[in-house]
Amino acid sequence: MSSSAAAKGKAPVNGAAAEIPYELPWVEKYRPNVLDDVVGNVDTIERLKVIAKDGNCPHIIISGMPGIGKTTSIHCLAHQLLGDAYKEGVLELNASDERGIDVVRNKIKAFAQKKVTLPPGRHKIVILDEADSMTPGAQQALRRTMEIFSNTTRFCLACNMSNKIIEPIQSRCAILRYAKLRDTEILKRLLEICEMEKVEYNDDGLTALIFTSEGDMRQAINNLQSTFSGFGFVSGDNVFKVCDQPHPIIIQAIIRACVKSNIEGAMKKLSELWGQGYSAVDIVVTLFRVVKTFDELPEYTKLEYIKEIGFTHMRILEGVGTLIQLGGLIARLCKMNMAPELFQI
Ligand SMILES: Nc1ncnc2c1ncn2[C@@H]1O[C@H](COP(=O)(O)OP(=O)(O)O)[C@@H](O)[C@H]1O
Ligand SMILES: [Mg+2]
Repeated sequence: MSSSAAAKGKAPVNGAAAEIPYELPWVEKYRPNVLDDVVGNVDTIERLKVIAKDGNCPHIIISGMPGIGKTTSIHCLAHQLLGDAYKEGVLELNASDERGIDVVRNKIKAFAQKKVTLPPGRHKIVILDEADSMTPGAQQALRRTMEIFSNTTRFCLACNMSNKIIEPIQSRCAILRYAKLRDTEILKRLLEICEMEKVEYNDDGLTALIFTSEGDMRQAINNLQSTFSGFGFVSGDNVFKVCDQPHPIIIQAIIRACVKSNIEGAMKKLSELWGQGYSAVDIVVTLFRVVKTFDELPEYTKLEYIKEIGFTHMRILEGVGTLIQLGGLIARLCKMNMAPELFQI
């Protein structure tokens, strides 16, 4: 068990290093090394696997939300394409590196011109992680380089929003869009990690991890590790303490009170949350997420509630994040289930 974990991660395993109670972040330790281990986005990953097998790699852009495996997939792809030649055959530049026009002109050009022995039919790979943070100027400088050296060098870009990449580069690349990961996909990976790290958990805890991560695997794994190292047990309560989010149970109670038009009950719970120091945004965001998945509400009520919550969220983001704002929301939610006659004077 421990050997497989050690083989996957790069944790020090032998000698003195093993005695130091130093723990690698699990996101790094369990970063997949082959495309087969990357979960979710099945169709897109299948396509990458075919590319990895055939070796005919086009320029690619992978776009999508944070923490869903973009960087990981590109690394896996490069490893599978180049094997032992990875070290010489790959140039990686991410947002923390200098990537102005000069770097693109000099560093990338020098790399593209370099002679490297690669497996037959393979190309050198330039990885530009978080490419949307490159200035348009630097991207312009890139576009010609991409063209001139395309017979020896291929570019793999990862970004959050593909529209931040200039059109001419987009048209030279195959664009792969990654969707948020599904709950089952995150659950599968979390269970694997729990097994390997011997984490004790209950179902409530896993549900909470999935609820708080919103399809972001990095966040799910980080929260798992924080909860486990903080409390030693992954339960719903512990996860919400670590993530510092209002507990959905309390939010559910507020909604139930609203459905029954019990304004006092709902306001009491709301003030409780407010008293614990949660901001208006925290509360309204959790309200939305809970209502979205709350089975007790009839479809019609759900839609109306989401509409009101949405408007309140907007006002809060405009700057009015007060208790009164939230109180107003609660009042409107309560009113929705009251007979209209009550409001006639
Ligand atoms: N699809 C996935 N399958 C398995 N692990 C994943 C996946 N997506 C993210 N992870 C985990 O989250 C971490 C961050 O993923 P990364 O690829 O860097 O995300 P990003 O999409 O932001 O580049 C990885 O180290 C890995 O542990
Ligand atoms: Mg990344």
